[in-house]
Amino acid sequence: MTLAIDFTNMMAGALPTGGGITDAEWQGARGDFAAAHAAVNAQRASLGFLTLPTNAPVLASTLAVAEQAKGRFTDVLLLGIGGSALGPIALRTALRPLAWNTLDSASRGGHPRLHVLDNVDPSTISTVLARLDLANTLVLVVSKSGGTVETMAQYLIVREALARALGEKRAREHLVFVTDPEVGALRRIARAEGITTLDIPPNVGGRFSVLSPVGLLPAALIGIDVRALLAGAADATKRAESDDPASNPAGAFAVLQWVADTKHGRHVQVLMPYADPLRDVALWFVQLWAESLGKIRPDGSHAGPTPLPALGATDQHSQVQLFMEGPLDKTVTLIAVNGRAADGPIPSRHADVPELAYLGGHSLGELLDIERRATAGALAARGRFNATITLDALDAWHVGALLQTFALATAYAGALYGVDAFNQPGVELGKNFAYAMLGKPGSDAARAEWDALPKPNPAYCI
Ligand code: PA5
Repeated sequence: MTLAIDFTNMMAGALPTGGGITDAEWQGARGDFAAAHAAVNAQRASLGFLTLPTNAPVLASTLAVAEQAKGRFTDVLLLGIGGSALGPIALRTALRPLAWNTLDSASRGGHPRLHVLDNVDPSTISTVLARLDLANTLVLVVSKSGGTVETMAQYLIVREALARALGEKRAREHLVFVTDPEVGALRRIARAEGITTLDIPPNVGGRFSVLSPVGLLPAALIGIDVRALLAGAADATKRAESDDPASNPAGAFAVLQWVADTKHGRHVQVLMPYADPLRDVALWFVQLWAESLGKIRPDGSHAGPTPLPALGATDQHSQVQLFMEGPLDKTVTLIAVNGRAADGPIPSRHADVPELAYLGGHSLGELLDIERRATAGALAARGRFNATITLDALDAWHVGALLQTFALATAYAGALYGVDAFNQPGVELGKNFAYAMLGKPGSDAARAEWDALPKPNPAYCI
């Protein structure tokens, strides 16, 4: 059981066209990393995600709620957005069979379906609600702040539908809130109405919350082995004890991406799993990397690489052309998986058709792996920085290790870039403009700033 990183193709020696991170840069960055590692350690008390893998009370309270719900519901509907939705989606896609929600109950092992409303598009919400039997649905309302506008709007609509379908008392029994232990509207409503609630530790931020009840509760409800998930994450945390990036996978990832960006102009950082179940992990990573690192530094300068999700081999017929011949501004991190389930030989048919005959006897897993290796080699041959993260298996343990490795890497990268990886001030202005337009009390300043913005110019509107 392990997670390995091969970063040969990030390094100067491996890129025949020249370029690449030099040994001197890598050695020099070890000192930078030691400082970043110390800075993250110094903030430990406020970085609750570091201890989530071994937080026994969080696990126990989550499993108790999951146990209470066991066998009572055919469907779980999760309301949330951002970090409150992307983690649960990634876990479902990675660790449950394809198209989980379309399987019958026996194929789901009796576990419920899991629907995640991660937006406020009315067409999605009305379609999901029309399909659900609310008498058999458990609704999880997930919000760290307990007041995010999208989640609150989802909640008001779903709560009304529950009350209409079941009556107010039964509606409350179909709700679980996952939120901050003290602050926010959800917490106040839960207290007033006695709604079952799980705490997100106060020192765990939204996009770092996948291993808190935010991800653990929906995962446990649909039968994911959350203990194995946490064990993998604990292993990743242990490996991150070293302040030498050469023996700390999260540190190595952070240092390499940072050096590639800041010294080699590789500002766009692609995550490309060669495994369909990991496609939503790439989307989860995009939020983590973008919202954590895209910041204004204290000196006013701007920081932040641009993460880009891709999927192998599908994107070999789409974005890889750009990765190969577009600007030299990218790194590509491929994810490989050993020991694929459900692999089998490609039948040997059409022996007389050379375009097909060579495939016979190989397996699909082998084809996917060969394509990944071919892409990594091709990228290197054209001077394109790339690295490969290999998981020994695609199971809860390795997914836990992968998610925690990226969370740790993000914390280190924040320190390397000199930004606060744990806030998101850049999203406030848009939020405040929206509040002003919705008439939220206290939005006068935002309203004034909004009103002062230039209006659409007919000369530029067609
Ligand atoms: O990472 C973050 O903090 C954000 O992306 C949040 O997850 C997102 O804004 C949702 O916030 P909340 O969980 O408070 O509803």
